[in-house]
Amino acid sequence: MEEINASIDFDRRLAPLDIEASLAHAAMLARQGIISPADADAIREGLNRIAQEIAEGRFAFRRDLEDIHMNIEARLAELAGPAAGRLHTARSRNDQVATDLRLWVVKACGRAREGLRDLQRALLDKAEAHAGTIMPGFTHMQPAQPITFGHHCLAYVEMFARDGGRFADAQARMNECPLGAAALAGTSFPIDRDMTAGALGFARPMRNSLDAVASRDFALEYLATAAIAATHLSRLAEEIVLWASPGFGFVALSDAFTTGSSIMPQKRNPDAAELIRGKTGRILGSFVALATVMKGLALAYAKDLQEDKEAVFAAADALELSLAAMAGMVADMTPDRAKMRAAADTGYPTATDLADYIARVLGKPFREAHHAAGAIVKLAEQKGVTLDRLPLADMRKFEPGLTEDVFGVLGLEASAASRASYGGTAPARVREQIAFWREKLK
Ligand code: ARG
Repeated sequence: MEEINASIDFDRRLAPLDIEASLAHAAMLARQGIISPADADAIREGLNRIAQEIAEGRFAFRRDLEDIHMNIEARLAELAGPAAGRLHTARSRNDQVATDLRLWVVKACGRAREGLRDLQRALLDKAEAHAGTIMPGFTHMQPAQPITFGHHCLAYVEMFARDGGRFADAQARMNECPLGAAALAGTSFPIDRDMTAGALGFARPMRNSLDAVASRDFALEYLATAAIAATHLSRLAEEIVLWASPGFGFVALSDAFTTGSSIMPQKRNPDAAELIRGKTGRILGSFVALATVMKGLALAYAKDLQEDKEAVFAAADALELSLAAMAGMVADMTPDRAKMRAAADTGYPTATDLADYIARVLGKPFREAHHAAGAIVKLAEQKGVTLDRLPLADMRKFEPGLTEDVFGVLGLEASAASRASYGGTAPARVREQIAFWREKLK
């Protein structure tokens, strides 16, 4: 029974928050005249001492005492005597653990937002240095159109901004206090829930005591948001793995974020990126685990809910580590302008520019222009040259209206610069967006 019942091995992470909540509760009990000022003092002194013992690693956690709440209460009894027994007036472990975990997840949201901002700043620095660096833009993993590396970095800045927004939304929604719901139905003691909620930094007490002790959607929301952020991280991680492989050679990773092989001396493996990609499984798995725990669970508290914590802790640890590692890796990586440009120069990425030109300048219907451009690309392919090196006479075989002027759109830089529609890859647009994010991430 002890083996299956005890949560102390993991819920000890809640200790500082459990103490904070108990301090708030004791102060409220005293102000409401429910316990004496002398008892409140003894409780406060005892709890502060326990906080110190835990911080200094001197606290003896006991599995036979089941969880963090009972461990602290038992030690308090040793330190504060009979007063300790009054702390649990008008509360239950059910509202206590719901409060502790909420406080923990509110902070975890804050840390995730900070980690996301740090990563955004690292991406922004790369975007700024490479606002005009040409690389191939892909669809279907096939070269599609030339884009800038800065534009590519900013795509992730946007994704991570939405992740941060989701954490902020979740944080605001979970910012109400379960404490005072007691076991499930409230209490007959004249407690002041606004006081404890305020002391713990919550916006207000939760309105319904059953909901307060039975709900974990705040944790689910955190995990769902973490899972989405992790999928974004995994996409960037995958791209970095590709970019760093010699076949691409788009970026060089620093020694700090690569490992060697025990047998192949030439290797520089992108382990950090691979681990970030891999940790997505743990984070999404944590969401699925807790969602499955919650499904079909009758109100109010049941011990199933004890399973909430490990999922949250595992996801938070993985997410925070992934964000920090990704920020470090991005900051350290060196994009290779020449390799990216050379890759962009294969696969006729300016074919769309040619078709657009024929339609825009020569006034041909786009479908016809598309056809002519396709034929011109085919000929260039046969001759083994890029579009901007195909003689004008050759192009005229398929579109007689073309003049020397067309070469102005066939180069990679010109192509990228011409995509100046809002949100487009043109360096001028990219620089505008960089300025926007610089201001926002100040
Ligand atoms: N360790 C428990 C948990 O994590 C604390 C609440 C226990 N409540 C109870 N009625 N047994 O959920």
